[in-house]
Amino acid sequence: MALGLIFLFSLCFTLCFAGNVSYDSRSLIINGERKLLISAAIHYPRSVPAMWPELVKTAKEGGVDVIETYVFWNVHQPTSPSEYHFDGRFDLVKFINIVQEAGMYLILRIGPFVAAEWNFGGIPVWLHYVNGTVFRTDNYNFKYYMEEFTTYIVKLMKKEKLFASQGGPIILSQVENEYGYYEGAYGEGGKRYAAWAAQMAVSQNTGVPWIMCQQFDAPPSVINTCNSFYCDQFKPIFPDKPKIWTENWPGWFQTFGAPNPHRPAEDVAFSVARFFQKGGSVQNYYMYHGGTNFGRTAGGPFITTSYDYEAPIDEYGLPRLPKWGHLKELHKAIKLCEHVLLNSKPVNLSLGPSQEADVYADASGGCVAFLANIDDKNDKTVDFQNVSFKLPAWSVSILPDCKNVVYNTAKVTSQTALVEMVPDNLQQKDGSKALKWEVFVEKAGIWGEPDFMKNGFVDHINTTKDTTDYLWYTTSIVVGENEEFLKEGRHPVLLIESMGHALHAFVNQELQGSASGNGSHSPFKFKNPISLKAGNNEIALLSMTVGLPNAGSFYEWVGAGLTSVRIEGFNNGTVDLSHFNWIYKIGLQGEKLGIYKPEGVNSVSWVATSEPPKKQPLTWYKVVLDPPAGNEPVGLDMLHMGKGLAWLNGEEIGRYWPRKSSVHEKCVTECDYRGKFMPDKCFTGCGQPTQRWYHVPRSWFKPSGNLLVIFEEKGGDPEKITFSRRKMSSICALIAEDYPSADRKSLQEAGSKNSNSKASVHLGCPQNAVISAVKFASFGTPTGKCGSYSEGECHDPNSISVVEKACLNKTECTIELTEENFNKGLCPDFTRRLAVEAVCS
Ligand code: GAL
Repeated sequence: MALGLIFLFSLCFTLCFAGNVSYDSRSLIINGERKLLISAAIHYPRSVPAMWPELVKTAKEGGVDVIETYVFWNVHQPTSPSEYHFDGRFDLVKFINIVQEAGMYLILRIGPFVAAEWNFGGIPVWLHYVNGTVFRTDNYNFKYYMEEFTTYIVKLMKKEKLFASQGGPIILSQVENEYGYYEGAYGEGGKRYAAWAAQMAVSQNTGVPWIMCQQFDAPPSVINTCNSFYCDQFKPIFPDKPKIWTENWPGWFQTFGAPNPHRPAEDVAFSVARFFQKGGSVQNYYMYHGGTNFGRTAGGPFITTSYDYEAPIDEYGLPRLPKWGHLKELHKAIKLCEHVLLNSKPVNLSLGPSQEADVYADASGGCVAFLANIDDKNDKTVDFQNVSFKLPAWSVSILPDCKNVVYNTAKVTSQTALVEMVPDNLQQKDGSKALKWEVFVEKAGIWGEPDFMKNGFVDHINTTKDTTDYLWYTTSIVVGENEEFLKEGRHPVLLIESMGHALHAFVNQELQGSASGNGSHSPFKFKNPISLKAGNNEIALLSMTVGLPNAGSFYEWVGAGLTSVRIEGFNNGTVDLSHFNWIYKIGLQGEKLGIYKPEGVNSVSWVATSEPPKKQPLTWYKVVLDPPAGNEPVGLDMLHMGKGLAWLNGEEIGRYWPRKSSVHEKCVTECDYRGKFMPDKCFTGCGQPTQRWYHVPRSWFKPSGNLLVIFEEKGGDPEKITFSRRKMSSICALIAEDYPSADRKSLQEAGSKNSNSKASVHLGCPQNAVISAVKFASFGTPTGKCGSYSEGECHDPNSISVVEKACLNKTECTIELTEENFNKGLCPDFTRRLAVEAVCS
């Protein structure tokens, strides 16, 4: 009987639950229905729980069906394998519940290796120190802990009934991450590990499929998926698998000291449209909201605290325009095609040397066409079904009925915006304007008892085990009175070599200079004249990590810290200090005492001052203040500070470093969306700090009495720190007569009846605001960008009044480019445009 029951039970299990998510070569099939899915990566620890509902809602409004997240092992088990943490930003279950409540699906990329510009690629640092461990290969320890963690997460999800097979939102899970690139470096062990990872995952019995991205030898038990800026040409290894794109990068991450990359909305849309044109069925934006690498969670070296990623939702949670809107329109257009796309086979037609159509026609007479011009320079007019269509270079037109273009990836019809960081002086309510700053200055070098001494150097990471960024290497040197440099007033030169990542050099408590690696290259050299006196001189070198490596084969073995210290310029030449007796101290005193937290703040004697010292190294600053007015998101402006860490009410804002990029980098004023994108294609901000503002979530503020603590390493001007409020100061749109109509819901409702629909400008204000002024409006040949439009030679003088009439005091408005609205007799030989800039308040 037992056997019979088990059989019956498993049959029921298969029929009643499992199979909720299945697939074939065309798509995922959820509850028996084929799906074409738009997915959006939002990483739960990169924002705060108070932001999650709104982020998910903004994604949904943007036409997204699925939220995707990695699981970040090292935030759940930061210090040992015996403890798990899921509080605050790390509350994975809460995050998934919010997604489910929004009626959306979820893709859970467990990894647990994730890369993700996240510290150590997401693997806890303690695992590197379990004897005999090698990450990501056929290694007993690694596999043991990876399986233990994966199982824990799967069990947690099952307990909360979060898999689709249990009625939950999780439709796919991922094991490992882009291992295909590195497998070769691990030889046979790599192959065995990849096969083991797949088998270990599948044996977890989640009832939903597993995916492996960029895994070129993935077994048939999992679906291999694509990560890239373009995945239209991707083919799954096995013919029964759907074509899934796990990472479409709509921007790129930032590195302290590098300029800022930008990927144009037109090119993102092009890549997505091409993917669906070529049979894709799940597409995920990595990232849709990038968010913030709070605290020391940024990977490295040198990944910025901001993980904005130029994603459709910006770091602060506001829709990034026009990217968010342009993709929303794209999603709408694709969804109009969903049924036909998923229920017919495409016919590919050549429309020219670099132009093609894919036409999908289903049995019930539905017809969908994607017309692509992949020429990266020239616009082209093509003939399709006896009608001619103008296709801008590097663009796709979508025709959900094979007749009407409802969307072209290169024609941005959705509104754009001017977003500003508006400074708000730090303030306190008690009437007095002056803030009460207090300071505590760290000693350069050994504070308290030394941790240990050694002749020569230790590896920085092996010593701190990443409990802190900081490690002091100190020694001393006796200078004889007969040294010529003393008499001649010359300065000897200190020469240091380090494996990374950054360094401040102090002699006799005075900062002599700083140095750091560049880009992702962490080794660097320091060369600076220093002041030495006759007698004993203490040399205190503060070595720093700026995020541990997050990817690459054997990345966990990459070291940091000093390898050589010499001083040039003695009577006898150069003195090599490398084999001296070095005294070591891990971390800072203030960190150790937790003086950045309300509970630890009183464990040192702070010195009150009406004018906080400027340009003073190794200084802790604290001040109690009110939140900035209003309810806009807040960024801490650190332009005038050097480098360090910041906290509000004990919450970790993160590393700040307004490090400037070189003026000699290749920056652009306009980004040409045409042609293949690479992260260095469209840089801005050459010679500017990579990151000036640091996100402080609103939910971290109390109504008053907020404790802001800053640790400054090399010197800055704390009085110039401000909170800035992120404000959408203007909304704008510039639409040409030949743009597809922004109002396309009609197409679905009324078939192709609206083929006469006119191009139109649609404007909308953020929540609770109305259009309070129209700053600019011109129908004719206006030029310029949002914030700096100007009238062209041809201009309808009624433009402003037409727009005011349609829009003033409304939350949103639409203005059609019609005869009724504008003087159509105007410059008939031109394609006329309407440009509008309006203010919401
Ligand atoms: C991918 C990786 C992601 C992220 C991305 C770049 O290779 O899978 O985790 O690191 O690159 O942002």
